[in-house]
Amino acid sequence: MSSSEDRILIFDTTLRDGEQTPGVSLTPENKLQIARQLDRLGVDIIEAGFPITSKGEIESVKMIAKEGLSAEICSLARTSRKDIDAALDCGVDSIHTFIATSDLHLEHKLKITREQAVEKAVEAVEYCKSHGVIVEFSAEDATRSDLTYLKEVFKAVNNAGVDRIDIPDTVGVITPEKMFQLVSDIKTVVNVPISLHCHNDFGLAVANTLAGINAGAKTAHVAVNGLGERAGNASLEELVMSLYCLHQRKTNINTKLIYETSRLVSRITGIAMQPNKAIVGENAFGHESGIHTHGVLTVPLTYEPIAPELVGRRRWIQAGKHAGGHGISAQLKELGIDASRDQLKDIVEKVKELGDKGKRLSETDLSALARAVIGQTSPEEKVVDLQDFSVMTGVRMVPTASVRVLIDGKRYVASDTGVGPVDSAMKAIQTVTGGFGEITLKEYRLEAITGGSDALAEVRIKVEDEEGITASASAAGEDIVVVSVEAMLDGINKVLLKRRRLASAGTAVTAAQGT
Ligand code: KIV
Ligand code: ZN
Repeated sequence: MSSSEDRILIFDTTLRDGEQTPGVSLTPENKLQIARQLDRLGVDIIEAGFPITSKGEIESVKMIAKEGLSAEICSLARTSRKDIDAALDCGVDSIHTFIATSDLHLEHKLKITREQAVEKAVEAVEYCKSHGVIVEFSAEDATRSDLTYLKEVFKAVNNAGVDRIDIPDTVGVITPEKMFQLVSDIKTVVNVPISLHCHNDFGLAVANTLAGINAGAKTAHVAVNGLGERAGNASLEELVMSLYCLHQRKTNINTKLIYETSRLVSRITGIAMQPNKAIVGENAFGHESGIHTHGVLTVPLTYEPIAPELVGRRRWIQAGKHAGGHGISAQLKELGIDASRDQLKDIVEKVKELGDKGKRLSETDLSALARAVIGQTSPEEKVVDLQDFSVMTGVRMVPTASVRVLIDGKRYVASDTGVGPVDSAMKAIQTVTGGFGEITLKEYRLEAITGGSDALAEVRIKVEDEEGITASASAAGEDIVVVSVEAMLDGINKVLLKRRRLASAGTAVTAAQGT
């Protein structure tokens, strides 16, 4: 359907606009790690940063530019020579230079005339071109700029030799219909490719970008997980999947790496995804109701517009009051529990009763409930068996934990450090099991069940491996380090057992997931 001519270029701004997300600040090493992943993902252009802003930013952009990645490495600069020189010094392939063009910004922010802004834009483009780099020019606040003037600005930079022009919807106020029209208008005055940079203030960033692409724009500015100033930028994952599934337009993105990229960015930036976020949110491939569960287990397309595997994820089912036999039976299979038809009926009834009482059933709860119904007391199936562990902590020392385990009967030992005894113990466990898969802690909740310093504590955790297989586990006791270790090992065992069951079934069947 689409030729390579037709391919939409992905200009990723996670490391620039994305880093402008309130509360996000990345070290050069963080940025390099994300840049490497973006390159693996297949983005065409990485906007690595805004060098004039800090020494760390210069170091980051230099490191990324030196890394030898396949993507074009770009750097942001205002139209001043100082900004452009800072970007050029970083050794980037391209410079993204910008100046505001709306009267609002010209009068109140820049305090210059329209004519002066055109002059600055042209000078900047010529200066960049004289240094042999690719240059993309953005008319900041384009969507609130006077159209005749905006055309004049773009015509001028086009004549000055710009390689791409960008239409930023800086405060996210355009609508899809207007964006289609705007791109159609701008196309009549330039002969270089058009980029779009949409913000999500009204939740329309992806829709506006798609509309602009339908009108002929060639490049989309996006950020992983929709990060960016205020409500963020158009989200990479939503835009790429919409282009692919709904518009039959290709990008260079390896969609199977979308979820792991999202998780990496979320972990490094500390910005968690809302559960119902499209594509990468926890619930995006989760099913609860019996009707939906039956549907997806029979023909996935019934309730799944995107195959989870296409974005590196797995389907999962939640046991709840809307559950049906098909879903619960699939979950039990993954937990290695065999129930007869009558037992299954009983289990489903009990799940519904608990659901009616407002209880969300975790995988651990479902397993305990099912085993109670079928008369099994303990699962006892384990891959990793704890032999012993110790933790050292105190003032003026780094908390350090050592752990000894048997994995499939073979002895493994590891130690690790952390910010406290629990953290070091969790890390030591992840290190000792690391050879069997990268199983990371996604959630950790600690609750004191009773009062006092000898309070009974309950730890609930959730872990996930690199393929998106998750498990939840809990443990209770008086020593929070011991119960944390028990819960973590239980979670890791569940993931490893699920992986083995999936591998022996030879299929990517439904992965049940705890809460
Ligand atoms: O939102 C915006 O206008 C920007 C510019 C720097 C392109 O981020
Ligand atoms: Zn922006």
